[in-house]
Amino acid sequence: MSFTELPKVELHLHLEGGAPPAFIAGLAKEKKLDISGIFKPDGSYDYRDFWHFLEVYEAATSTLQTPDDYKRLTLAVLEESAKNGVVYSETFISPDFCGGRDLGAWREYLHAIQEAADEAERTMGVTLRGIVTCIRHFGPEKAKETALCAAETAGDWLVGFGMAGDEKKGKPADFAYAFDMAREAGLGLTVHAGEWDGPDSVRDALDALRPARIGHGVAAWHDRHLVERLARENIVLEVCPGSNVFLGVYKQLHDHPIEKLRENGVAVTVSTDDPPFFHTTMTREFEQLNRVFGWNEEDFGYLAKEALDAAFCDDVTRAKIRKRLEPADV
Ligand code: ADE
Ligand code: ZN
Repeated sequence: MSFTELPKVELHLHLEGGAPPAFIAGLAKEKKLDISGIFKPDGSYDYRDFWHFLEVYEAATSTLQTPDDYKRLTLAVLEESAKNGVVYSETFISPDFCGGRDLGAWREYLHAIQEAADEAERTMGVTLRGIVTCIRHFGPEKAKETALCAAETAGDWLVGFGMAGDEKKGKPADFAYAFDMAREAGLGLTVHAGEWDGPDSVRDALDALRPARIGHGVAAWHDRHLVERLARENIVLEVCPGSNVFLGVYKQLHDHPIEKLRENGVAVTVSTDDPPFFHTTMTREFEQLNRVFGWNEEDFGYLAKEALDAAFCDDVTRAKIRKRLEPADV
């Protein structure tokens, strides 16, 4: 059975993390930057563990220096998404990398990314929306500046605010001001938690920042009360199984709690996180979930609808995408 054609909704995709390594190597060459240390001899990204991954990620991102670079990046990323049957995607973008949190510069980067998204929607049939993301290990002061960029550009396209980075640095409460600013601007909220840290990191994120979604959140499985809370409060998990296995959070997909979380009433969705870094695609995620847990076409149909319900886009967009999830009449 081929899963490529099934219409997919992806909620957790870092824009820079979707950059094909050859694309980044090409930009480095154009700009005469030596970042050869981040690649293996076969051209793929090279890193030892999650924390080294974050460094390699930032080194790769250093080649993206202009709005036009981001326009090209967005087109390259969406080409891969479209090839894998993704019809709607939300991507994490950071004013930290796009203009150093300067609001004027950020507007230019955002405009370029949106131009690429419009082009991809017309030519490839994939709809993109943006989630501004602060980087936890850059600290709460920078997060406030990032949130201001998000609040000032919130709208039909820029629909969310989130936090990525090293979840072992700082406490969620340190970022409450930034998240309050984003909430007041009407943005949907998501926080990376429970990827590397334990269930308490998810609980603290929920209590301090009140997000509708948690990025990863899989550590919640180790706390029965938290699982019940997630189900009761309808908190949606943006689960990235391939990322978790590649980075060593779980040894193999068989050990991953996605199936048990789902069985216990937690709303799970499936995404790739940083696909070329983890040698994955949305198609591959579906294939692996089918192989290991037996998920079938019906499960994937339900998964896509659940993800669309949790998307931060407006209801007109949601209704338009919902039609694309319905099986074509024969
Ligand atoms: N930034 C990019 N990918 C990430 C991940 N998996 N966790 C935290 N921060 C990230
Ligand atoms: Zn992530």
